[in-house]
Parts: sequence; C-alpha cells; structure tokens
Amino acid sequence: MSKVTVVGAGKYGSTTAQRLAEADIADEVVMTDIVDGLPQGLALDMNQSRPILGYRTKVVGTNDYTDTAGSDVVVITAGFPRKPGMSRMDLLEKNASIVAGVTRDIATQSPDAVLIVVTNPLDQMTTLAADVSGFPRSRVMGQAGMLDSARFAHFISETAGVDILDVEAVTLGSHGPTMVPVPSLCRVGAKPLTEAMDAETIDELIERTRKGGAEIVAYLKTGSAYYAPSAAATAMVRAVVEDSGDVMPVCAWMTGEYGISGVYLGVLAAIGAGGVRGVVEAELTPSEREGLVAAADAVKEKVADLDAIEV
Ligand code: APR
Repeated sequence: MSKVTVVGAGKYGSTTAQRLAEADIADEVVMTDIVDGLPQGLALDMNQSRPILGYRTKVVGTNDYTDTAGSDVVVITAGFPRKPGMSRMDLLEKNASIVAGVTRDIATQSPDAVLIVVTNPLDQMTTLAADVSGFPRSRVMGQAGMLDSARFAHFISETAGVDILDVEAVTLGSHGPTMVPVPSLCRVGAKPLTEAMDAETIDELIERTRKGGAEIVAYLKTGSAYYAPSAAATAMVRAVVEDSGDVMPVCAWMTGEYGISGVYLGVLAAIGAGGVRGVVEAELTPSEREGLVAAADAVKEKVADLDAIEV
C-alpha cells in the first residue's frame, strides 16, 4: 500500500483522484491545488461516496505541499487545458512555469517518488519535470500513449462493430500530429487489424485518433477531455503501486531503443515500483519504425523551445 499525490484538482486531477480512491490501491490519495478550498471540498465530497461504493481509500485535499511528503507516486495535472483552436504549443509557455514550480515542491517533499506527468504539451512538460526534479529519468514518465491507444481502440470497435474488449490497439510516438499508430500490433478479435479493415478505413481512424483530443475540445468549448485520460493515468499509477511490470504505452526516456536516444517518446514500457523498468522494443514494420524516428526528431525540436523559456 502506498501514498499517491495528484497535483491539480481540476477536471483531470479530481477525476484521477476519485478513480484512484475507488480502485482502493493506496493507503492515501492526496490532492493539491493552488486554489484555496477546491481540493478540500472535492475530497470531502469524494470521501462521502465511500460507504455507497464500498472502498476505504481516503482523499486528502490540501494546498500545502508538506501534506504530500513521502509520496510514492505523484501525478502532475496542474496547468491549463487547451482552448478550442489552441495548439499544444500555445500552451507551452503557460504550463511550463506551473509544472516547473510544482515539480520543485514535489521533488523537495517526495525525493523518491515516481512522477507521472499529464499536463500538455506532454513531451515538453515531461522533459521539464525530469530536468527540474533531477530525478533519474526512469522515475519520470508521461501519459499519452495509453490514452491515444484507448481512443484508437474505441474507434476501431465502433467501426468494426466488435466488442471493445475484443480490440487491442497500440499507438506510439508523440501525442498529436506525430502520434505513430501501429496497425501491425493491433488486433480485432483474433484477427490482425490489417485483415479486419481496408487500409483506407484504418487511415481514417488513425486520423481521427490523432485529432481525438481536439474533437472533444470542440464539443466541450471550455476544457479538454478527462474521463479516458484519468483512466489512463490511474492504470499507470496502479502498475507502479503494485509493482506489476505491466507493459503499457507511456512517454519514456529513450536510451538507444529503436536506435533512438536522449528524448522522451511514446513507447511500450514495463512499469513497476521504480517507474520505467525498461522500454520494450516491439517488432515494427519499416514504415512504423520510420514514423517513430520522425516523431523522436519532432519531439527533440519541440523540446528545444523550452530553452527559450525562463522557468
Ligand atoms: N499548482 C497547483 N495547481 C495548479 C497550479 C499550480 N501552480 N496552477 C494551476 N493549477 C490548477 C488549477 O487551479 C486547476 O484546478 O490546475 C487545475 C487544472 O484544472 P483544469 O483547468 O480543469 O484542467 P484539466 O482538464 O484538469 O487539465 C489539466 O491536463 O490534459 C491536460 O491539457 C490538459 O494541461 C492540461 C492538464
């Protein structure tokens, strides 16, 4: 049993805290935010659902980082979501100073924690959290691939008319335009995706998945998605807390896998108590491999933008 902190009590953070508490996998879930009263009120409300749903984990709402001390896992959601028409890049400056500040406080209070970053733009914010915390890079990862894979699986299931639980989908690379779907690793029932659907349909679903976040933002008008994102973050926390070694698509530091190094990239990785146990190299087709290398190059370029920002 462990202590988990969620930084940010907005849509993403509060939903994650609630999912974590309901999963009953931690001794304590701490939720913190810059807004006075917000995490306290939400935590009180969440805790009152325990007798109805039958779980024990309490959520502690606080504005004080000392309450987060000694956390085993910290999910960083603090920051602004995209507004309609706003690109992830537009978010960079706004969220960099928030994530840097939060990471400093967390690193001081919980020097042994595993950090899971979800604030966008994801690749930059994960890199920034790793830099600012000074933690080994295996202990800092980002959430994107799990969500993109789930979105892809949903679209495949709807289009093919098959049970969602019979679909396996994997996306790698970056979050957004350089997401790399991996049809060769996707399954519909017992069939490879490439046999279950024609190439044109697969391409359409890939394009919809790439723009999956924006599609939801356009409907919501304010705010961005949080139900599937919080489910993804919760699954990552569970793998750390249970030291499961489960292999999942996460944004992990590359050290030569697929010939790529020195960058955070969406890949399959085994997740355990110390964070990323190791990147698992999947067998990719030549074009999928090329897509991954191109995504790594694009992320490196984006990360260079951080140099111009004072945090
Ligand atoms: N410290 C702690 N919390 C902060 C700070 C800070 N310095 N700055 C802002 N916050 C809090 C806000 O007060 C707000 O409660 O972060 C929360 C963000 O919540 P929402 O605006 O509801 O945004 P959300 O949908 O949760 O998304 C958060 O996740 O998916 C990404 O793009 C999304 O970057 C965004 C992040």
